[in-house]
Amino acid sequence: MQSITKKLTEIVSAAFEKCGYDPKMGVVTASDRLDLCQFQCNGAFAGAKIYHKAPFMIAEDVAAVLREESIFSKAEVVKPGFLNLTLTDKCMLDIAASIDSDPFCGVPQAEKPETIVIDYGGPNVAKPLHIGHLRSAIIGEALKRLARACGNKVCGDVHLGDWGLQIGLVITELAERYPNERCFAEDFDPDKDSVPVLDAEMLCEVYPTASKKSKNDEVFKDKAHTATFELQSGRPGYIALWKEILRVSIADLKDNYSKLGVDFDYWYGESDADKYIPELMKILEDKKLSYESDGALVVDVAKEDDKAPMPPVIVRKSDNSSIYATTDLATIIQRNKDFAPDKIWYVVDNRQELHFTQVFRCARRAELVPEATELEFLGFGTMNGSDGKPYKTRDGGVMRLSDLINTVTDASLDRLKGSELVSEEDREDYARKLGMAAIKFGDLINHRSKDYIFDLDKFMSAEGKTGIYLLYTVSRINSIMKKAGDAKAELTGIYTDSERELILKMLMTGDVFDRAMSEKAPNYICENAYQLAVSFSGFYHENHIINEPDEKKKSSWLALAALTRKMIIKHLDILGIETVENM
Ligand code: ARG
Repeated sequence: MQSITKKLTEIVSAAFEKCGYDPKMGVVTASDRLDLCQFQCNGAFAGAKIYHKAPFMIAEDVAAVLREESIFSKAEVVKPGFLNLTLTDKCMLDIAASIDSDPFCGVPQAEKPETIVIDYGGPNVAKPLHIGHLRSAIIGEALKRLARACGNKVCGDVHLGDWGLQIGLVITELAERYPNERCFAEDFDPDKDSVPVLDAEMLCEVYPTASKKSKNDEVFKDKAHTATFELQSGRPGYIALWKEILRVSIADLKDNYSKLGVDFDYWYGESDADKYIPELMKILEDKKLSYESDGALVVDVAKEDDKAPMPPVIVRKSDNSSIYATTDLATIIQRNKDFAPDKIWYVVDNRQELHFTQVFRCARRAELVPEATELEFLGFGTMNGSDGKPYKTRDGGVMRLSDLINTVTDASLDRLKGSELVSEEDREDYARKLGMAAIKFGDLINHRSKDYIFDLDKFMSAEGKTGIYLLYTVSRINSIMKKAGDAKAELTGIYTDSERELILKMLMTGDVFDRAMSEKAPNYICENAYQLAVSFSGFYHENHIINEPDEKKKSSWLALAALTRKMIIKHLDILGIETVENM
């Protein structure tokens, strides 16, 4: 179904037209003065010049037409020309009922569904998954679910960092530790020789050690670069070892992502772009875009009106290895071939904006995708600790994602300890869901581009804008419905102001989803879920649903409670947050 303001805009535009005015003036928006009206249209002001008429008079003409529509309880003009609109209770109830029966629960469906590839997660194999990658996973997952809920064809690709220097570093470090392993020998034979068996714990230690060494030890660093190049050139022993690194890392990543409730349609990595690199290089050469500079191959991407310096993008280093930009460009070729997407969204840390500007400009110059295909960088801010600096462990190290997940799960277990509602056997599962709700909502409530402070106590609070508060709201409605047993639940009327407020919030939900989708910003969905919960709470405290003697009222209130629950669950589902039965 359409959003309410779109529907009203159609009706009001038709009224403008009927009065002989340009229908474009009939744009309706939510009112910012709910004490005066629910919706407003300020279009009459634009008509003053065109029709040489006071806006007030134009608006009056239109209001007279609208008063004949049965859906408005109020269509009035306020000087100097505002058109204020309020719906009848009957109309509000009808729309609420249609949200209830809508298979999409009021989420407006795309008029022209699009194919969207979302590049998110972006973990690097061989490196421990740290909290820097948390935001990409959480935001990307929410955007994927949102775009899908709006009827688009969406595929999420984790785009593993599996082809860069970090692998060369790990290979070099392992070669120093186990020099006699066959995989380091020139004559390694993949059919006969084996590679050492690795595990995740070990990799977590090997990479940081190697990375530190490379900063102080030039020889080590050169070896790591050479190993990277040799891996990329297909040296058999390195490929075999790399596959072992991948096996261990991917199992670990899948485990962490599944705890987070994040799942990818594709597990492609930078290495999968490798086979498109020759094609990329040929295109760049044929179009005379690439040229040599200090031994490297580069493409100019600066534009005349650039305010900041825009260095050329390096597509091949002087040692012949490909780098981050190379694999990103080659991946664009792959995605275009495999998916012919209308859009590719990159959910990546704000600090990589320059890289993506360079990559996109180069992709445009090389025409790697049709002009209509949008390449968009959806940057996100940093998750900070209470000191305002990037979140760290107590000893100042980078926090591993698995440790963070354990910390929040433990905090949730603590909270559930006192609850008689949660059975022993549900406890673990509930704790995971509560923990995830806390961190995901705590993240997503902020606009993705902003930094925010990770504050577990705040995120775990049962009050305020938190995931836990929303889980409590759902659980509270569950228990109301349980108490109601098989009592009838049907919307019959609006009996109190608090219901009217709640229903109006429900009606505005389509607009919220439209906005979240067009700005690619899940925070609006968080805010709306919270608003629904707050309005529900007002309604619940004002009316004693279960004890209400008037059967008609009780039935309507139960229906309203059930619809609230359905809508909040829908919001949370899009945010990638699971709910629990009772808590
Ligand atoms: N692996 C990268 C990192 O950890 C993020 C990848 C983002 N996606 C991309 N197509 N470059 O910084």
